Amino acid sequence: MTPASLIEVDFTLNGQPARVRCEPTRRLLSVLREDLGLTGAKPACGIGRCGACLVWMDGKPVNACLLMACRLQGRSIETIESVGQTEQSAPVREALARAGGVQCGYCGPGLVMMLTHLYRQQPRPDAREASAQLCGQLCRCTGYGGLQRAVDLLFAD
Ligand code: FES
Ligand code: FES
Repeated sequence: MTPASLIEVDFTLNGQPARVRCEPTRRLLSVLREDLGLTGAKPACGIGRCGACLVWMDGKPVNACLLMACRLQGRSIETIESVGQTEQSAPVREALARAGGVQCGYCGPGLVMMLTHLYRQQPRPDAREASAQLCGQLCRCTGYGGLQRAVDLLFAD
């Protein structure tokens, strides 16, 4: 039986059914990392400003540090553990590697999730639009030169 202060939510996680029992205001990032053992989405700012925790909900990017568990019921969540293995993210991973787009790698999962989201859009944004869309992805190491080169590789006309 679920204690009164807890809720039970059923959702899809990386294509598989998932169920968690937790406080309704618990954040998805902590559910993923602490309850479900998925540590790809990274904790950083905790206030939705850096994109280190980015996942997809129903195919759209969301910051998992802001998303409350009570909003998960019936949703589909995809994380870097799944998306990072797929063909759809392969060009993004290759471009980041070729361009030296990441250094320590902490921002990498969020970057791959956002870039893959942009790359699969139809019509695909151009490099300038893609760069603008990356304004919420912060990197503490690289100075963004490599990231910009990766964007140019991916979104060149
Ligand atoms: S940790 Fe979620 S946006 Fe920074
Ligand atoms: S490569 Fe270190 S935070 Fe981006």
